[in-house]
Amino acid sequence: MTLRLGIIGHPVAHSLSPAFQQAAFDASGIDARYERWDTPPAALADRIRSLRAPDVLGANVTIPHKEAVLPLLDELDPFARLVGAVNTIVGRDGRLSGWNTDGPGFLRALRDSAAFEPAGRRFLLVGAGGAARGIGFALARAGAAVIAVWNRTPERAEALVSDLRRAFPAATCEVQSSLARFRGFDAVVNCTSVGMEGSGTEGVLPFDPEETESHCLIADIVYKPELTPLLRAAEAAGRPVLGGLPMLIYQGALAFELWTGKPAPVEVMFAAARAALRASVRP
Ligand code: ATR
Repeated sequence: MTLRLGIIGHPVAHSLSPAFQQAAFDASGIDARYERWDTPPAALADRIRSLRAPDVLGANVTIPHKEAVLPLLDELDPFARLVGAVNTIVGRDGRLSGWNTDGPGFLRALRDSAAFEPAGRRFLLVGAGGAARGIGFALARAGAAVIAVWNRTPERAEALVSDLRRAFPAATCEVQSSLARFRGFDAVVNCTSVGMEGSGTEGVLPFDPEETESHCLIADIVYKPELTPLLRAAEAAGRPVLGGLPMLIYQGALAFELWTGKPAPVEVMFAAARAALRASVRP
């Protein structure tokens, strides 16, 4: 029996997940097909019900369904419940469990791609949307000493900070009021879409990396282009950098490991994602 998986979102035409997940299944010798399951909001409940079929191993969930999917599942991993968002569904014996590998994927990227251990370190998150939530909770759980949050809309930063404080009283969580001059951080993470191809902010920097201390890691969740304007500017300023592609691959690798119980072939996944990115570059 060929197993089936897919990515549930709207739209999903440009997702890289089918390319690198299919490559991972093929390289692991698992007979599975990873599909694009474009699902408008009105069709979400039916789509989730269809995952209970015996040949479905699971799914990924992306914008705009990461929160709406929660009440449709049978079980939630405690971390997904904490974040309030699910990006991975595992189907087993007709029961569906929800997981969040976005934040843990960022942590694995930090450790494996940037050799950066988050425990005891001071982070500034730029942005307070879904991506920032996953990253913030994962950093707090990993023992980060300080998590500061700046957001264009300050109310969202305040909400994230108060949720983090409630869940992790030991971490120092605070709203950052300005990006004009900021010091005292070991890593600054762009959790917004600023700089992403197709966002209308191509070429724009979400903040000036020269405003950080010289040892500060500059991380970007944007992976298209792989070397974003922020990363270019950070490299030019001599800062260590971490791009968005490792986070994308590691969230997928953790999902693969949940579905299959096998280690993900991470290098194969990177190569497939880079090939798909190259193929999608606009003329
Ligand atoms: P995601 O799940 O990818 O995080 P989201 O929940 O829509 O998506 O959050 C997008 C984040 O990018 C938010 O922090 C958003 O800021 P607002 O809360 O003020 O909307 C931020 N963002 C998007 N475009 C931006 C821009 N041009 N300048 C600054 N921040 C921007």
